[in-house]
Parts: sequence; C-alpha cells; structure tokens
Amino acid sequence: MFVQFAATIFLVTVALDLVSATPVIKTVQLHPFGQLGKCLDLQGNIRLGGQPVQVYDCNGSSAQNWEISEGPTLVKLAGTNYCLDSGDTVADGNRIEVKICKEGKASQQWNYTDDKHIKNQVNEGQCVDTVKGNNQNGNRVQSWECSSPSQHQVWSTARTST
Ligand SMILES: *[C@@H]1O[C@H](CO)[C@@H](O)[C@H](O)[C@H]1NC(C)=O
Ligand SMILES: *[C@@H]1O[C@H](CO)[C@@H](O)[C@H](O)[C@H]1NC(C)=O
Repeated sequence: MFVQFAATIFLVTVALDLVSATPVIKTVQLHPFGQLGKCLDLQGNIRLGGQPVQVYDCNGSSAQNWEISEGPTLVKLAGTNYCLDSGDTVADGNRIEVKICKEGKASQQWNYTDDKHIKNQVNEGQCVDTVKGNNQNGNRVQSWECSSPSQHQVWSTARTST
C-alpha cells in the first residue's frame, strides 16, 4: 500500500516536472522591427515545400500565424505541417522558405532568443533577417549573420520600436 502510494507520488512529481519543462508554444504574428503593421507572411498562403516567406502588411491572413516558443523551437505555420526551414547550407543571403515539418530536421531547429532573434541551430551565427532591412510588401526574408543590435533581425510578437 505505502509502496503504491510512494510510487504514485513519484509519478506525479515526474509528470509535473515534464509539464514545467515543456516550452509554451504560442500562435502569434511575427513583426519585423517590432512594427505591428508588418508580418512574417507565407507568400500567397501557398502551403508547398519551398514556398518563400516574405514581409507583408498584417491583415489577419492565416498565412501570418506562426506557432513558436521561446528558446529552442520550430516555427510552424499555425495549424499546418509547414515549418520555417533554412535550407541545408546556411549562409548570408540564403532565402528562407517553408518545408514539411520533420521531427529532428536540423534546418528547422531555431532558437527564439531573449532579444527576439530567430537564430539558426545549424549555423548559430545566422539569423532570420529581412533583405536589406526593407519592410515593403513582398520583401524576402533571408539568412544573415546575427547581429544583436540589428533591427532587421528582430521578430517581435508585440511592439518594440516605432
Ligand atoms: C492579405 O495578405 C496576403 C499576403 O499573404 C495578400 O496576398 C492578400 O491579398 C491580403 N488580403 C487582403 C484582404 O488585403
Ligand atoms: C538560445 O538563446 C538563448 C539567449 O536568448 C541562450 O541563452 C541559449 O543558450 C540558446 N539556446 C540554444 C540551445 O542555443
């Protein structure tokens, strides 16, 4: 009886530890430069491997809702099986796309850092970056050397700048 009780307590404790260690995945819009009017957007909302992501005015489209958690994370188009993917070679200027999410696929492992950079885990020196820091509709999103102060690489879920 006591053994059973103790075992139950042990299991509950382990379960609680697992719960607290699980990252909180939120569905959010990701705003470049902390500009709430601009969103990370799946071009044409076309769910296809290799489809580009871009900057676009936020307009409530499901092409702009991403599942992400702080720290190590996938960045998944909400409710789909498409993930932000850096491609196999991660270097300055590489365009970022979505691909079918694959458990453990290196090019889909990101780190959403305290300073709101989406840092590549294949090449930790590289971050999700807006091409030329331009926030016009249709501007592509690329991989670029991480720079902590660079606003081109800030993807906030709330306003951080004007
Ligand atoms: C919303 O944004 C998308 C870009 O994903 C664009 O193609 C679409 O035309 C926009 N819809 C409206 C109503 O502006
Ligand atoms: C993720 O980034 C944070 C900084 O925000 C850092 O402390 C942490 O070590 C990074 N995690 C990984 C797995 O790289």
